[in-house]
Amino acid sequence: MTCANEVLSVGELAQRIPVRNERFLLGIAGPPGAGKSTLAQLLHVELVRAGRPAVVAPMDGYHLRNDVLRARNALARKGEPDTFDASRFVADLRLLRDTPVGDPVPWPLFDRAIDEPTDNGVVVRDERIVIVEGNYLLLTEAEAPGWAEVRGLLDQCWYLDAPRPVLTERLLDRHTTGGRTPDEARHKVTSSDLRNAELVAASGHRADLVLTAAGSGYRVH
Ligand SMILES: Nc1ncnc2c1ncn2[C@@H]1O[C@H](COP(=O)(O)OP(=O)(O)OP(=O)(O)O)[C@@H](O)[C@H]1O
Ligand SMILES: [Mg+2]
Repeated sequence: MTCANEVLSVGELAQRIPVRNERFLLGIAGPPGAGKSTLAQLLHVELVRAGRPAVVAPMDGYHLRNDVLRARNALARKGEPDTFDASRFVADLRLLRDTPVGDPVPWPLFDRAIDEPTDNGVVVRDERIVIVEGNYLLLTEAEAPGWAEVRGLLDQCWYLDAPRPVLTERLLDRHTTGGRTPDEARHKVTSSDLRNAELVAASGHRADLVLTAAGSGYRVH
C-alpha cells in the first residue's frame, strides 16, 4: 500500500512489479522529456540486481524512417502519434505476450545519433519482465488512431510526469545538442513537443500509478 505523496526509491518501485511465471509487461508512459527512458533503465538495474531478468523495450524504435516522413511531408512533425508505426508496435507487443519465455522476439531501438530506428536492436528472450516505455501508451482511439490497443496489452502502466518548465528546458537542450539552432529548437518545442505533451497529459489519469521525480526517488501522486 502506497500513500499519495510518498517518495519511493527505485528499488521500492521495482518491488511493486509482481513476480509472475508468465511475461509481465510494465508500461511507463509520460510526456516527452519526462524521464521515462531514465526510469526504465534505473528499474532495469534494480530488477537485475534483485535477480529478476528484465529488458527495456522502448516505443521509440517504432518511429517511421526519415525518408518515409519526408515523403509524407511530416518530417517537421516527427514525434507526433502518426509519425510512428503504431500497428507494428501493437503487433510486436502482442507477439511479446504470445511468445513463450525462452523464444526470441526482436525489438527495434531508436538511435538518436543518426535520428533513425534500428531494426533488431534488442532481443527479448528469457526476460519475464519487459519495461515498455514511451509517450503514447495510454491514448484512446479518439485521441490518436491506432494507439488504443496498447493499454490492453500491458499488465500495468505507470505515468511519469514532470513540470512543464522542466520538460521545456530538457527538450530545448536535447534539440540544440542534436544540432538545431536555439531558434529552431524553440520552434520544435512549442510547435510540436509541447502539443504532444498536452495530448499525453490528457491520458495520464488512465495510469495505475502517477509518479514525478523527487531527489533520487519518485513521488507517488
Ligand atoms: N529523475 C531525474 N532527475 C533529473 N534529471 C532527470 C531525471 N530523469 C531524467 N532526467 C533527465 O531528463 C532528460 C530526459 O530524460 P529521458 O531521456 O529519460 O526522458 P524521456 O521521457 O525518455 O524523453 P523522450 O520522451 O523524449 O524519450 C535527460 O537529460 C535526463 O538525464
Ligand atoms: Mg526516452
